[in-house]
Amino acid sequence: MALIQVRDLVKKFGDQTVLSNINLDLQEGDVRVLMGASGSGKSTLLRCLNRLVEPTSGSIVFRGKEVLGPGVDVKELRKQIGFVFQQFALYSHLNVLDNVALGLRKLQGMSKLEAKERALHELSHFDMTSHQDKYPAQLSGGQKQRVAIARALAMDPAVLVLDEPTSALDPVMSRDVADLINHLHGEGITMICVTHDLNLASNIADTVMFLDRGVIRADDRIEVLSQHPDPEIQSFFGNKEKA
Ligand SMILES: Nc1ncnc2c1ncn2[C@@H]1O[C@H](COP(=O)(O)OP(=O)(O)OP(=O)(O)O)[C@@H](O)[C@H]1O
Ligand SMILES: [Mg+2]
Repeated sequence: MALIQVRDLVKKFGDQTVLSNINLDLQEGDVRVLMGASGSGKSTLLRCLNRLVEPTSGSIVFRGKEVLGPGVDVKELRKQIGFVFQQFALYSHLNVLDNVALGLRKLQGMSKLEAKERALHELSHFDMTSHQDKYPAQLSGGQKQRVAIARALAMDPAVLVLDEPTSALDPVMSRDVADLINHLHGEGITMICVTHDLNLASNIADTVMFLDRGVIRADDRIEVLSQHPDPEIQSFFGNKEKA
């Protein structure tokens, strides 16, 4: 059974249809990459998965259970689906350690001490132990993104959802975070990642889904997409400047 099964998912904002009949299966251990032009609906699709956005119609089944509709424990769902946003979204008033520990206390119900120990353990995997007392404003972009990923993984989610994890970073930091994601891929972490970075995409995933105005138009290897008969798809994947 797929970990996440999306069927005929539609999202409208007013008159605007942002997602049209999206179908998608994510298996345990899969790394799926989603690419597409700005405004094509990538973030909206990710946000539907844990109901940060309420879909208009369709179905999302997570571990055999329907996610949409009433009576679903959204808090429990969000524990299972770890999110890393483009803009890090760290709490600026909390230091690194507390940023990672907060969810463990609030969502997992750990004691203060337990949460801090768990958070420290997670930070050690990301070479961030020595920065544990710093506040987000005192970190580089790459370090902030490491903390954001550590925070998501500390919850031991079933899947890690990454929305443009490298786009706010300079090329060096971007490479650093890409290496980290590659490493997680090697460890068998299930991921779905939106990116504009063709190198990252080809490093972490076998195939890339191309979202065009709310429709998944292709799901194939980048080499195939860059030779796609549809010129729009071809130029997106053949021309790095444009991507
Ligand atoms: N809360 C909202 N209310 C109204 N319209 C929205 C809302 N969120 C997104 N949209 C619209 O939905 C469309 C898709 O937005 P989305 O953020 O999913 O695009 P994206 O593919 O992630 O783009 P980008 O690459 O720029 O991040 C856009 O036209 C956007 O204006
Ligand atoms: Mg987006």
